[in-house]
Formats: sequence, structure tokens, C-alpha cells
Amino acid sequence: MKILYFGGGFVGACSAAVSADSGHEVLVYDINKDLVSSLSSRDKDKIESCLFEKGLGDLIIRNQARIKFTFDLADAEKYINETEAIFMCLPTPERDGTGETNLEIYEAAAKNLAEILIKRNNSAQNSYVLIVNKSTVPIDMVNRTKEIMLAAGVKNFGVGSNPEFLVEGKAIEGSVRPPRVVVGADSEKDFMIFRNIYSRFVESANIAYLEVSPAEAEASKLLANYILFSRLANCFDVVGRVCEKFPGLQFENIRKVLITDTRIGDWGFYDSLFAGGSCFIKDARSLSHQLKAKGTKADLVDNVLSANQRQLDNFLSRAKEELNFTWSGKIVGLLGLAFKQDTNDIRNAASLGTTEFLLTQGVKQIKAYDPVTGSNYLKYFAEHKAADKINLVAAEAEAISNVDILIIATDWPQFRGLSDLIMKNLPKGAVIMDGRRMLATRYGELAKAGYDIIAVGSPLIKAA
Ligand SMILES: NC(=O)c1ccc[n+]([C@@H]2O[C@H](COP(=O)([O-])OP(=O)(O)OC[C@H]3O[C@@H](n4cnc5c(N)ncnc54)[C@H](O)[C@@H]3O)[C@@H](O)[C@H]2O)c1
Repeated sequence: MKILYFGGGFVGACSAAVSADSGHEVLVYDINKDLVSSLSSRDKDKIESCLFEKGLGDLIIRNQARIKFTFDLADAEKYINETEAIFMCLPTPERDGTGETNLEIYEAAAKNLAEILIKRNNSAQNSYVLIVNKSTVPIDMVNRTKEIMLAAGVKNFGVGSNPEFLVEGKAIEGSVRPPRVVVGADSEKDFMIFRNIYSRFVESANIAYLEVSPAEAEASKLLANYILFSRLANCFDVVGRVCEKFPGLQFENIRKVLITDTRIGDWGFYDSLFAGGSCFIKDARSLSHQLKAKGTKADLVDNVLSANQRQLDNFLSRAKEELNFTWSGKIVGLLGLAFKQDTNDIRNAASLGTTEFLLTQGVKQIKAYDPVTGSNYLKYFAEHKAADKINLVAAEAEAISNVDILIIATDWPQFRGLSDLIMKNLPKGAVIMDGRRMLATRYGELAKAGYDIIAVGSPLIKAA
């Protein structure tokens, strides 16, 4: 099959690579020239330097005969006659903190698509095409896409939905062997197109291939993200808080007891200073907004959002409250800038809120380190705030040396082994703030070595 992608970011590039790997011919159109040039480079490092997803570079290179990238709409136009499906993988950000989804980018792209669709088959439009929404959008979005197409005079098309459930950092592995594939369509004809696209999954014994309506597909995506997010919020704001407030409770022991109840399970059962990323917060806010727009309350959804923010505020305030620490004029080491391990994505990362807090407190310098995403973080602050206080360093040891306080904000696995480096390089009397419990197995030794420790899920651990 010939498939066209509109948008080649995290979702578009990963999904397109998997489609090519499934034997389809794929063209990815994206307006970002730098991204297109990196994805077209056939150089694994270059591909993964812009989209750090394990396996993405190899998959694109292995399937290079079947996958092309372009920023020129004319290329998409040449391709459109035999295209059977078009995947829309566009950003759907929140509009100015309102919770409402800002559909301007999506709609602009849909209008560009309509311009080329009306020209297909020398304007006869006799080839049928399925427009598939892969972005996370409001529940009734299919109608909006149809309206845009009809207003532009597009004929002979269907609109379906195929929400993306990828987990950043494991996107390729997860897309090649997904636990489930959800497709939403209105007609048997459209379901058939989906079955052809996903023939490698339809008959699989291990993959749930679920056919629902487009609105059910969109609603399921928003609800799934909300449920996962609420689980994290419960873990941070209730389980973690109990372990912080009652002495003698080891978070890891409580965790073991809880997760061995199969009804509870272990997904997301860790403590953290904040749940970031591009989806959970945005999608929960959208869900809340949509419920309120229908005249109902969304208190539980709103509470999950505020519990997440409360967690970050609570963590950052503990240094002053529990140690009477003054931030002003201090040098801070910040380890971990990505929103989680195995990604270069910094959207809503804890490092951003933490840095904003540190800047408002008047710190002297932030020595920031991340194994992959330092440049994205620096770019964010260069664009948003004076970056003169931020010093991106090249190694963990530099972020640890000569600082007054050390904050761990990402769960990069290598941070678990930093205790010895810390005991060697972090000045005695400095404070360790572990926002991910990365050093939990050695808090006792670190305290004996002279550090006060503030960790999510533990009461203050005083230097011995
Ligand atoms: N990132 C995730 O983990 C994830 C998971 C599931 C769902 N989603 C949803 O998928 C959607 C896309 O997310 P993403 O993370 O891939 O975003 P992204 O920002 O990484 O990628 C979007 C791409 O669209 C391109 N684009 C913008 N306007 C365009 C236009 N007119 N024509 C062609 N391309 C255009 C951008 O240049 C960008 O490369 C969002 O709705 C998101 O909520 C994301």
C-alpha cells in the first residue's frame, strides 16, 4: 500500500518507519526542513540526534527503499494519486492554559492536504482515500476533519481514527510488537483499509486488534492516558506522601507489598518529583475541558492535575522548610533534563519547572547535565528566559563538583550508580535532593558521608 504521513515528529516518524517495515511504501511530509534532512540522512546518529528513539535509525535505514521524507508539498501532490491512506500526526497543543485543544496546526495541515486531494486523478478524484487521525484530539474531531475536506471540495474519502499509544523511549519496540492496535472507522470499507495497513497485527495471537467507532477510539485514548496519569498521581501524592510523613516506612517495601496484589499491578509504581512529557498533562486538561463543555464536573481529573503540580512544589519547597536552606546565591547541580529516561524530549520535563523555580529563587548558577538532551534544554531557556545562569556541563562529575545542592530530576538508569562519584566530588555539607529515588539503596552511606538528603518518598535524612 502507499501511505502518506502528514507530520514526521515522534509519532509520525516512528509510525511511518513501522509501516515501511510492514512492507508499505511511505512518504512522510513535514514542514520542518532540519527534521526532514536528518530523517533523510540515512545516518543513524543523525536521525537519533533529532528524534532520540531506540531503534528508529536502524528501522529507517533498513527500510530506506520504502520510506522517503520531504518538506515539499509538491512531492506529496505527486504521490497522492495512488495513496490509499493518509496519517495525520500533527501537534495538538493546549490553547493558552485553557485546556481547550488548539487545532490550528492540525486544521492548517488538513487544509494543505485538501488542496492536494482535490487535484488527484487530474481532479476526477476517483481514487478512494482514508484520512486517519493519529494525533490525540477532542472526541468529536472526525466531524471537523470531514467538514474541512467537504468545504474544500474533496470527494471520495473516509475519515478514521487510529490513536497512538506509543511510549516514548520504547516507541519502536512498542510499535513493532504493540499490546493492542485500536482503529476507529464508520464503514466496512475503511475497516478493510485498516486491516490491510495492519495485516501483520490483525491475526496475531498476542496483539489485541480492536475495531471501534472513531469517537470511541479518540475517547479511549484520552481515557487511557488519564487513568495512567491518575495512577502516577496516586503514587506520588498519596503513597509517596505517606512514606514521607510517617518515619520508618521504606517506599520500596511498601511498593513491593502493593504491587504483588495483581489487582493493583506494577505499572507506574514509582515515586517521582513530577510526571512530565508531552501527553499526560495536555490530555488530562483536554479531557477536563471537554467534560466541562458538556456541562458536567471534572473534579477528579482536575485533582490529578493539581496533585502532580503539588508534588513538584512540595519537593522543591522542602529544602527551605526542612533545612532552612536559602537558595539565593547558591550553585546548583541539576542531573537529568529529559522528562524521563531514554528520550531527548523535554516537554513538561521536571527540569523545566525546577529551573524556573531556581531562577526565581536567585541562585547563582545551575550546572545542568543530561546524557542526551542538553541542547534542547538550553534552547528552551535561551528562548524563554535569560540563560546566563545556566551552564550545560558535559559529564555527571562536573554537575556534582563545587555545588551547594544537587538535584536529580530524571530516572536515567546510570544515575543509580552515582553514589561513589557523589561521595568523591560533592562537597561535604551539601544537600542531595533525589527526585527519583535513584540513590535509595545508599541513602544511609551518603548521610554518613555528610550529606543531608531530601528524597521523594522519604522523610528528611539528616547527615550523620
Ligand atoms: N509523543 C508521544 O509520546 C505521543 C504519544 C501518543 C500520541 N501523541 C500525539 O500525537 C500527536 C503528535 O505528537 P508528536 O509527539 O509526534 O509531536 P511532534 O511535535 O514531535 O511532531 C509533530 C510534527 O508535525 C509537523 N508539522 C506541523 N505542521 C505541519 C504541517 N502543516 N504539515 C506537515 N507537518 C507539520 C511538525 O514540524 C512536527 O515535526 C499529538 O497530538 C500528540 O498528543 C504523542
